[in-house]
Amino acid sequence: MPKSTDTWSNARAKEATEAATRDPSKLAQQGNSMNQIAQKRNREYYNKYGKYYEKYHAYFRNPLLMRQWRGNLEEIKDALPTTEGNKAIDCGCGTGLLTLMLLRLGFSVTAVDISKVMLAELQKKVNHLPGHLTENLRVVHGGIETLETFPKSSFHVVCESSVMHHLDDYIPYLNIANELLIPGGVVYIGREPLHVKEQRVHKINVPLYALICLIDILCDKFQSRTNVKEVRDESITPQREKGGVSAKAFIELGEELEMRVLFRRLYNWHRSPQAFFLDNILPRSLRYEKLWGTFFDLALQKSRDR
Ligand SMILES: C[S@@+](CC[C@H](N)C(=O)[O-])C[C@H]1O[C@@H](n2cnc3c(N)ncnc32)[C@H](O)[C@@H]1O
Repeated sequence: MPKSTDTWSNARAKEATEAATRDPSKLAQQGNSMNQIAQKRNREYYNKYGKYYEKYHAYFRNPLLMRQWRGNLEEIKDALPTTEGNKAIDCGCGTGLLTLMLLRLGFSVTAVDISKVMLAELQKKVNHLPGHLTENLRVVHGGIETLETFPKSSFHVVCESSVMHHLDDYIPYLNIANELLIPGGVVYIGREPLHVKEQRVHKINVPLYALICLIDILCDKFQSRTNVKEVRDESITPQREKGGVSAKAFIELGEELEMRVLFRRLYNWHRSPQAFFLDNILPRSLRYEKLWGTFFDLALQKSRDR
Protein backbone atom coordinates (compact mmCIF):
# COMPACT_ATOMS: atom_id res chain seq x y z
CA MET A 1 0.00 0.00 0.00
CA PRO A 2 1.18 3.57 -0.62
CA LYS A 3 2.75 5.20 2.41
CA SER A 4 0.35 7.52 4.23
CA THR A 5 2.58 10.52 3.50
CA ASP A 6 2.42 9.69 -0.20
CA THR A 7 -1.34 9.97 -0.73
CA TRP A 8 -2.94 12.18 -3.37
CA SER A 9 -4.89 14.17 -0.80
CA ASN A 10 -1.59 14.97 0.94
CA ALA A 11 -0.02 15.91 -2.39
CA ARG A 12 -3.03 18.10 -3.22
CA ALA A 13 -2.94 19.84 0.16
CA LYS A 14 0.82 20.41 -0.10
CA GLU A 15 0.46 21.75 -3.61
CA ALA A 16 -2.32 24.14 -2.51
CA THR A 17 -0.27 25.44 0.43
CA GLU A 18 2.80 25.99 -1.72
CA ALA A 19 0.83 27.72 -4.45
CA ALA A 20 -0.94 29.92 -1.89
CA THR A 21 2.35 30.87 -0.24
CA ARG A 22 3.94 31.78 -3.55
CA ASP A 23 1.04 33.58 -5.10
CA PRO A 24 -2.65 33.13 -4.23
CA SER A 25 -3.66 33.47 -7.90
CA LYS A 26 -1.69 30.28 -8.60
CA LEU A 27 -4.32 28.27 -6.74
CA ALA A 28 -6.33 28.25 -9.94
CA GLN A 29 -3.54 26.37 -11.66
CA GLN A 30 -3.56 23.63 -9.05
CA GLY A 31 -5.60 21.17 -11.12
CA ASN A 32 -3.16 21.49 -13.97
CA SER A 33 -0.10 21.09 -11.79
CA MET A 34 -1.62 18.04 -10.06
CA ASN A 35 -1.87 16.47 -13.52
CA GLN A 36 1.79 17.26 -14.06
CA ILE A 37 2.64 15.58 -10.75
CA ALA A 38 0.57 12.54 -11.79
CA GLN A 39 2.33 12.48 -15.16
CA LYS A 40 5.81 12.63 -13.55
CA ARG A 41 5.00 9.91 -11.00
CA ASN A 42 3.59 7.67 -13.72
CA ARG A 43 6.55 8.20 -16.04
CA GLU A 44 9.01 7.33 -13.27
CA TYR A 45 6.99 4.35 -12.06
CA TYR A 46 6.49 2.76 -15.48
CA ASN A 47 10.11 3.40 -16.48
CA LYS A 48 11.17 1.63 -13.29
CA TYR A 49 8.76 -1.31 -13.37
CA GLY A 50 7.64 -1.46 -17.02
CA LYS A 51 9.65 -4.60 -17.72
CA TYR A 52 7.61 -6.46 -15.06
CA TYR A 53 4.24 -5.04 -16.10
CA GLU A 54 2.80 -8.11 -17.80
CA LYS A 55 4.19 -10.53 -15.20
CA TYR A 56 2.65 -8.43 -12.51
CA HIS A 57 -0.83 -8.35 -14.04
CA ALA A 58 -2.44 -11.78 -14.13
CA TYR A 59 -5.07 -10.68 -16.67
CA PHE A 60 -2.57 -10.83 -19.53
CA ARG A 61 -2.73 -14.61 -19.16
CA ASN A 62 -6.51 -14.70 -18.96
CA PRO A 63 -8.01 -15.83 -22.29
CA LEU A 64 -11.56 -14.98 -21.17
CA LEU A 65 -10.69 -11.41 -20.50
CA MET A 66 -8.71 -11.11 -23.72
CA ARG A 67 -11.78 -12.40 -25.56
CA GLN A 68 -13.94 -9.73 -23.91
CA TRP A 69 -11.57 -6.98 -25.06
CA ARG A 70 -11.26 -8.32 -28.57
CA GLY A 71 -15.05 -8.68 -28.67
CA ASN A 72 -15.51 -5.02 -27.72
CA LEU A 73 -13.08 -3.91 -30.44
CA GLU A 74 -14.74 -6.13 -33.03
CA GLU A 75 -18.14 -4.65 -32.15
CA ILE A 76 -16.69 -1.18 -32.52
CA LYS A 77 -15.14 -2.07 -35.88
CA ASP A 78 -18.49 -3.35 -37.14
CA ALA A 79 -20.18 -0.14 -36.01
CA LEU A 80 -17.82 2.16 -37.93
CA PRO A 81 -19.04 3.85 -41.11
CA THR A 82 -16.09 2.47 -43.13
CA THR A 83 -14.70 -1.05 -43.31
CA GLU A 84 -11.30 -0.26 -44.88
CA GLY A 85 -8.54 2.16 -43.91
CA ASN A 86 -9.70 2.68 -40.35
CA LYS A 87 -7.34 4.52 -38.03
CA ALA A 88 -7.10 4.16 -34.26
CA ILE A 89 -5.12 5.88 -31.55
CA ASP A 90 -4.26 3.99 -28.35
CA CYS A 91 -3.63 6.55 -25.61
CA GLY A 92 -1.32 5.27 -22.87
CA CYS A 93 -0.77 2.11 -24.92
CA GLY A 94 1.70 0.56 -22.47
CA THR A 95 2.96 -2.80 -23.69
CA GLY A 96 0.36 -2.76 -26.46
CA LEU A 97 -2.69 -4.62 -25.16
CA LEU A 98 -5.20 -2.76 -27.38
CA THR A 99 -2.64 -1.71 -30.01
CA LEU A 100 -1.87 -5.30 -31.02
CA MET A 101 -5.54 -6.30 -31.12
CA LEU A 102 -6.34 -3.27 -33.28
CA LEU A 103 -3.48 -4.02 -35.69
CA ARG A 104 -4.72 -7.59 -36.05
CA LEU A 105 -8.22 -6.25 -36.77
CA GLY A 106 -6.76 -4.28 -39.69
CA PHE A 107 -6.53 -0.80 -38.14
CA SER A 108 -3.64 1.62 -38.68
CA VAL A 109 -2.63 2.43 -35.12
CA THR A 110 -0.92 5.35 -33.44
CA ALA A 111 0.34 4.15 -30.05
CA VAL A 112 1.15 6.88 -27.51
CA ASP A 113 2.74 6.46 -24.07
CA ILE A 114 4.65 8.52 -21.58
CA SER A 115 7.02 5.71 -20.59
CA LYS A 116 9.95 4.75 -22.83
CA VAL A 117 10.27 1.41 -21.04
CA MET A 118 6.63 0.47 -21.70
CA LEU A 119 7.13 1.42 -25.36
CA ALA A 120 10.28 -0.73 -25.50
CA GLU A 121 8.21 -3.68 -24.23
CA LEU A 122 5.64 -2.97 -26.96
CA GLN A 123 8.44 -2.85 -29.55
CA LYS A 124 9.64 -6.34 -28.49
CA LYS A 125 6.20 -7.73 -29.34
CA VAL A 126 5.90 -5.75 -32.54
CA ASN A 127 9.18 -7.32 -33.74
CA HIS A 128 7.34 -10.66 -33.91
CA LEU A 129 4.45 -9.37 -36.01
CA PRO A 130 4.25 -9.86 -39.80
CA GLY A 131 5.64 -6.90 -41.74
CA HIS A 132 2.30 -5.84 -43.23
CA LEU A 133 1.01 -5.22 -39.67
CA THR A 134 4.08 -3.36 -38.39
CA GLU A 135 3.82 -1.00 -41.35
CA ASN A 136 0.49 0.13 -39.91
CA LEU A 137 1.95 1.16 -36.55
CA ARG A 138 3.27 4.54 -35.49
CA VAL A 139 4.71 4.82 -31.98
CA VAL A 140 4.78 8.20 -30.21
CA HIS A 141 6.57 8.85 -26.93
CA GLY A 142 4.57 11.50 -25.06
CA GLY A 143 1.77 12.30 -22.64
CA ILE A 144 -1.93 12.14 -23.35
CA GLU A 145 -1.81 15.89 -22.88
CA THR A 146 0.19 16.24 -26.14
CA LEU A 147 -2.70 14.78 -28.14
CA GLU A 148 -4.02 18.33 -28.48
CA THR A 149 -1.32 18.88 -31.07
CA PHE A 150 -2.47 15.95 -33.25
CA PRO A 151 -4.50 16.67 -36.42
CA LYS A 152 -8.21 17.02 -35.63
CA SER A 153 -10.83 14.60 -37.01
CA SER A 154 -8.25 12.00 -37.96
CA PHE A 155 -9.15 8.80 -36.06
CA HIS A 156 -12.06 6.36 -36.32
CA VAL A 157 -11.35 4.98 -32.85
CA VAL A 158 -9.80 6.81 -29.91
CA CYS A 159 -9.14 4.29 -27.18
CA GLU A 160 -7.42 3.75 -23.90
CA SER A 161 -7.31 1.06 -21.28
CA SER A 162 -6.47 1.55 -17.65
CA VAL A 163 -5.07 5.05 -18.06
CA MET A 164 -7.87 7.40 -16.92
CA HIS A 165 -7.43 6.47 -13.27
CA HIS A 166 -3.77 7.50 -13.54
CA LEU A 167 -4.80 11.09 -14.41
CA ASP A 168 -5.78 13.66 -11.83
CA ASP A 169 -8.54 14.96 -14.10
CA TYR A 170 -9.71 12.80 -16.98
CA ILE A 171 -12.52 14.97 -18.37
CA PRO A 172 -10.15 17.06 -20.55
CA TYR A 173 -9.12 13.76 -22.18
CA LEU A 174 -12.66 13.23 -23.39
CA ASN A 175 -12.70 16.69 -24.99
CA ILE A 176 -9.41 15.97 -26.73
CA ALA A 177 -10.68 12.53 -27.82
CA ASN A 178 -13.74 14.20 -29.32
CA GLU A 179 -11.59 16.54 -31.38
CA LEU A 180 -9.48 13.67 -32.69
CA LEU A 181 -12.49 11.63 -33.78
CA ILE A 182 -13.87 11.57 -37.32
CA PRO A 183 -17.71 11.83 -37.54
CA GLY A 184 -19.16 8.39 -36.76
CA GLY A 185 -16.06 7.33 -34.81
CA VAL A 186 -16.08 5.73 -31.37
CA VAL A 187 -14.28 6.47 -28.10
CA TYR A 188 -13.47 3.31 -26.19
CA ILE A 189 -12.70 3.38 -22.48
CA GLY A 190 -11.45 -0.06 -21.54
CA ARG A 191 -10.85 -1.41 -18.05
CA GLU A 192 -11.44 1.53 -15.76
CA PRO A 193 -12.48 1.17 -12.11
CA LEU A 194 -16.05 2.41 -11.95
CA HIS A 195 -16.70 5.16 -9.41
CA VAL A 196 -17.94 3.74 -6.08
CA LYS A 197 -21.19 5.69 -6.38
CA GLU A 198 -21.96 3.94 -9.65
CA GLN A 199 -21.18 0.43 -8.47
CA ARG A 200 -24.75 -0.68 -8.03
CA VAL A 201 -24.68 -4.42 -8.43
CA HIS A 202 -27.85 -6.26 -9.43
CA LYS A 203 -29.47 -7.48 -6.18
CA ILE A 204 -29.24 -11.14 -7.14
CA ASN A 205 -25.54 -10.73 -7.63
CA VAL A 206 -24.57 -9.18 -4.31
CA PRO A 207 -23.36 -12.45 -2.70
CA LEU A 208 -21.70 -13.48 -5.93
CA TYR A 209 -19.86 -10.18 -6.30
CA ALA A 210 -18.80 -10.37 -2.67
CA LEU A 211 -17.29 -13.74 -3.50
CA ILE A 212 -15.66 -12.41 -6.65
CA CYS A 213 -14.10 -9.54 -4.70
CA LEU A 214 -12.78 -11.93 -2.10
CA ILE A 215 -11.28 -14.21 -4.74
CA ASP A 216 -9.81 -11.16 -6.48
CA ILE A 217 -8.12 -9.94 -3.36
CA LEU A 218 -6.75 -13.38 -2.46
CA CYS A 219 -5.47 -14.09 -5.96
CA ASP A 220 -3.96 -10.67 -6.25
CA LYS A 221 -2.19 -11.12 -2.97
CA PHE A 222 -1.00 -14.69 -3.31
CA GLN A 223 -0.88 -15.43 -6.99
CA SER A 224 -0.01 -12.65 -9.37
CA ARG A 225 2.22 -10.42 -7.28
CA THR A 226 4.35 -12.86 -5.32
CA ASN A 227 6.32 -13.72 -8.44
CA VAL A 228 7.47 -10.15 -8.90
CA LYS A 229 8.84 -8.95 -5.62
CA GLU A 230 10.70 -6.01 -7.12
CA VAL A 231 7.52 -4.05 -7.84
CA ARG A 232 6.45 -1.69 -5.08
CA ASP A 233 2.99 -0.20 -4.69
CA GLU A 234 3.43 3.49 -5.29
CA SER A 235 0.89 6.22 -5.40
CA ILE A 236 0.29 6.69 -9.12
CA THR A 237 -3.52 6.49 -9.28
CA PRO A 238 -5.15 9.77 -8.15
CA GLN A 239 -8.62 8.41 -8.96
CA ARG A 240 -8.31 5.70 -6.32
CA GLU A 241 -8.70 8.37 -3.64
CA LYS A 242 -11.42 10.14 -5.61
CA GLY A 243 -13.53 6.95 -5.71
CA GLY A 244 -12.88 5.78 -9.28
CA VAL A 245 -13.69 6.86 -12.82
CA SER A 246 -17.26 8.01 -13.45
CA ALA A 247 -18.90 6.33 -16.43
CA LYS A 248 -21.75 8.79 -15.96
CA ALA A 249 -19.43 11.75 -16.52
CA PHE A 250 -18.17 10.20 -19.76
CA ILE A 251 -21.67 9.38 -20.89
CA GLU A 252 -23.09 12.83 -20.09
CA LEU A 253 -20.27 14.65 -21.81
CA GLY A 254 -20.39 12.13 -24.66
CA GLU A 255 -24.07 12.89 -25.19
CA GLU A 256 -23.49 16.63 -24.98
CA LEU A 257 -20.77 16.39 -27.61
CA GLU A 258 -22.82 13.88 -29.64
CA MET A 259 -20.02 11.39 -29.40
CA ARG A 260 -20.24 7.61 -29.12
CA VAL A 261 -18.45 6.35 -26.04
CA LEU A 262 -18.05 2.80 -24.88
CA PHE A 263 -17.07 2.55 -21.26
CA ARG A 264 -16.02 -0.89 -20.13
CA ARG A 265 -16.31 -0.87 -16.38
CA LEU A 266 -14.30 -2.75 -13.80
CA TYR A 267 -16.11 -3.50 -10.59
CA ASN A 268 -13.16 -3.28 -8.31
CA TRP A 269 -9.52 -2.46 -8.58
CA HIS A 270 -8.11 -5.96 -8.81
CA ARG A 271 -9.24 -8.69 -11.13
CA SER A 272 -8.07 -12.26 -11.34
CA PRO A 273 -8.65 -15.07 -13.87
CA GLN A 274 -10.90 -16.83 -11.35
CA ALA A 275 -13.05 -13.74 -10.88
CA PHE A 276 -13.33 -13.24 -14.61
CA PHE A 277 -14.35 -16.83 -15.03
CA LEU A 278 -17.26 -16.31 -12.62
CA ASP A 279 -18.05 -13.01 -14.28
CA ASN A 280 -18.19 -14.69 -17.67
CA ILE A 281 -20.43 -17.58 -16.79
CA LEU A 282 -23.19 -15.24 -15.61
CA PRO A 283 -25.88 -14.32 -18.13
CA ARG A 284 -25.11 -10.86 -19.49
CA SER A 285 -28.40 -9.44 -18.20
CA LEU A 286 -27.31 -10.16 -14.64
CA ARG A 287 -23.73 -9.14 -15.12
CA TYR A 288 -24.06 -5.46 -15.76
CA GLU A 289 -25.56 -2.68 -13.80
CA LYS A 290 -28.36 -1.03 -15.79
CA LEU A 291 -26.71 2.25 -16.63
CA TRP A 292 -23.70 0.48 -18.06
CA GLY A 293 -25.57 -2.26 -19.91
CA THR A 294 -28.06 0.10 -21.48
CA PHE A 295 -25.49 2.60 -22.53
CA PHE A 296 -23.12 0.01 -23.88
CA ASP A 297 -25.75 -1.35 -26.22
CA LEU A 298 -27.22 2.03 -27.05
CA ALA A 299 -23.91 3.55 -27.98
CA LEU A 300 -23.28 1.01 -30.68
CA GLN A 301 -26.87 1.06 -31.82
CA LYS A 302 -26.66 4.82 -32.32
CA SER A 303 -23.50 4.58 -34.37
CA ARG A 304 -25.03 1.85 -36.55
CA ASP A 305 -28.07 4.04 -37.19
CA ARG A 306 -26.05 7.00 -38.48
C1 LIG B 1 -1.97 0.62 -16.26
S1 LIG B 1 -0.95 0.92 -17.64
C2 LIG B 1 -2.02 0.45 -18.98
C3 LIG B 1 -1.26 0.09 -20.24
C4 LIG B 1 -2.13 -0.45 -21.36
N1 LIG B 1 -3.06 0.54 -21.85
C5 LIG B 1 -2.85 -1.70 -20.90
O1 LIG B 1 -4.08 -1.67 -20.79
O2 LIG B 1 -2.18 -2.70 -20.67
C6 LIG B 1 -0.98 2.69 -17.72
C7 LIG B 1 -0.15 3.22 -18.87
O3 LIG B 1 -0.46 4.60 -19.03
C8 LIG B 1 0.74 5.33 -19.23
N2 LIG B 1 0.46 6.70 -18.78
C9 LIG B 1 0.21 7.14 -17.52
N3 LIG B 1 -0.05 8.46 -17.52
C10 LIG B 1 0.08 8.86 -18.81
C11 LIG B 1 -0.06 10.12 -19.45
N4 LIG B 1 -0.35 11.23 -18.79
N5 LIG B 1 0.11 10.18 -20.78
C12 LIG B 1 0.43 9.05 -21.50
N6 LIG B 1 0.58 7.84 -20.95
C13 LIG B 1 0.39 7.74 -19.61
C14 LIG B 1 1.77 4.58 -18.43
O4 LIG B 1 3.09 4.85 -18.88
C15 LIG B 1 1.35 3.14 -18.65
O5 LIG B 1 1.95 2.60 -19.79
